[in-house]
Formats: sequence, structure tokens, C-alpha cells
Amino acid sequence: MIPEVLQRLAPRVDKVLDQILPPADREPVRLHQAMRYSIMAGGKRLRPILAVAAYEACGGEDEEAVLPAAAALELFHTYSLIHDDLPAMDNDSLRRGKPTCHVVYGEAMAILAGDALQTLGAYLLAAYPEGSRWSARRNRASREILWALGSQGMAGGQALDLEQTGSGKTVSPKLLTAIHTLKTGRFLEASLLAGAHWAGSNAAQRGALKKFGTSLGLAFQIVDDILDETQTAQALGKTPGKDSAQGKATFPALWGIEESRREVERLLSDALRAAAEFEPRGRDLRELAHFVAGRKH
Ligand code: IPE
Ligand code: IPE
Ligand code: MG
Ligand code: MG
Ligand code: MG
Repeated sequence: MIPEVLQRLAPRVDKVLDQILPPADREPVRLHQAMRYSIMAGGKRLRPILAVAAYEACGGEDEEAVLPAAAALELFHTYSLIHDDLPAMDNDSLRRGKPTCHVVYGEAMAILAGDALQTLGAYLLAAYPEGSRWSARRNRASREILWALGSQGMAGGQALDLEQTGSGKTVSPKLLTAIHTLKTGRFLEASLLAGAHWAGSNAAQRGALKKFGTSLGLAFQIVDDILDETQTAQALGKTPGKDSAQGKATFPALWGIEESRREVERLLSDALRAAAEFEPRGRDLRELAHFVAGRKH
């Protein structure tokens, strides 16, 4: 089931993204088309929505003010997908149910579209929420996100992932958990913490969100690995069976599908326990955790 918060916020995130991206007829036209193509292809908009849910769980009430900064998270995420699909990385031809950015616009333009989405995301984090009264909160949230995207977060995790791919070596459970946490988990966790910073959260709230995010982030990537093995291209909107074909280090490869599913259930319980700290404002976080664990695409 799609949580109410996803249904409610995804169209609003889409609207902000449409307003923020340069128009498709502005020079350089092909670059702007490529950026819009990948963003508008769809996607669950999970990271912006996690940020807003965390903001509200921590007592934030000005959703309109934080939405542009939350939408920045989708720019970062989409940049990471465009680059992840490049021939030098996962070499994928299907994303969000459409040919990948480099298949349509060429490799050079796809690299630049990713670059430009990433810098536009950083620009938005620096600019929103608007007004000087937000400045300390905005700075804290920006640091959280930008750190999680770098060499000790997503980019670092992608580097480790690629070093393992096709190496023929069996990774240790410890290394596999580290790869998944870095390439996917840190950014999800940082999205939640950014929401907490915008709300002026206290340390106890951020501690609970960190626990929630760590479990959720790992569960998210394990589910991604399971879906790669069990779903169709139609359902996924991306090429299934690629992880084993390329010799990726994944949870199903190491533990099998059933044990991977049990691990997702354990992580879901941990996340729900952490979300309980936010009652009565934790409902959206709980629903999002159930959604991540049970998603089919
Ligand atoms: C896919 O992310 C990439 C990973 C981090 C595993 P999503 O499953 O959130 O992709 P979209 O945004 O819905 O397309
Ligand atoms: C990608 O993991 C994680 C990032 C984009 C940072 P995957 O390579 O498994 O993601 P998909 O399956 O291509 O979406
Ligand atoms: Mg990858
Ligand atoms: Mg990939
Ligand atoms: Mg995958």
C-alpha cells in the first residue's frame, strides 16, 4: 500500500522540481533537456518525503518553506542514478521505465546533466528555507547532506561497490554492510536528519532519527537487491537480474533471498522501535518504513 504521506507529497515535490529546473528550451538546450528527462521520468521521491516526514515528526509546521530544500534531495538522488547507469559504472539501459539518460542524450551530456543536478541541489540547500532566521538550521542541514554524498558517503560507497563488482571475490558480511550503508544508507539517513535540523530538533530526536535512518537505509538497499533478483523489468522500471550477471556484491548473493528477507524484517522492527520515540507525530515515519520494507519497485 502507498502511504498517505507519499501520495500527498510526491505531486508537490514534482511541482517544485518543475519550477526549479531551467526550462527545456533554454540554452544549452540538450543539457537542460537531459536534466528534465531524468527527473521527470518519475521516481518515488522518497528522500524529499523522508525529510519532510522527519521535519514534521520533530515539530516542524511550515511545510511550504522546507519543500524546495527537500526537493534538492531528489536532484542529488537523480544525479546519482544517472551516473550509476553510465557505461563506466553499472552500464544500465533502463531507468524509471525509460531508456537511461546516456542512451538518449549520449554519455558526455549524461555526465554533465548529473553534474548540473548535483550543483543545483547544493544551490537550493544554500538558498532554502528562505530568510535569515533559518540560516543556522539551513547550514546544519546542508552540512549533513553534502557530507553524506561525498567520499565518506555515497561516492565512497559507489567506489567500493565498483571495486568489488566482477572481482570474483566473496565479500565479507562486514564489507557488504559497509558498502550498502555508504552508497545508499548515509544519504537516506542524512535526508531525515536534514528535516530534523530544519525543525530545530533536539539531540534526542536526532539520535532516534539516526537509528531509524541507519536501519531503514540498509533495509532499502537489501530490498533493492532482492527486487533485482525477483521482479520483472515491467514492475521495476529497470533491468532485472543485472546484479548477479555483473557479479555484484549483494545480500541475496551472500545469504540467499529468504535470509535477506528476514534481515529486512529485523531492520524494519529496529526502525519502528526508533520511530516510536516520535509518537504521536511518528505515523508517517512508521508508514514509510513499512513501505520501504514491502515495496515492489
Ligand atoms: C534506487 O533508488 C537507487 C538506490 C539507491 C538503490 P529508488 O528506488 O529510490 O529510485 P526511484 O527514485 O524511485 O527511481
Ligand atoms: C545504486 O545502487 C546506489 C546509488 C545510486 C548511489 P544500485 O546500483 O543497486 O541501484 P540501481 O539498482 O541501479 O537503482
Ligand atoms: Mg550501482
Ligand atoms: Mg545500478
Ligand atoms: Mg540495484
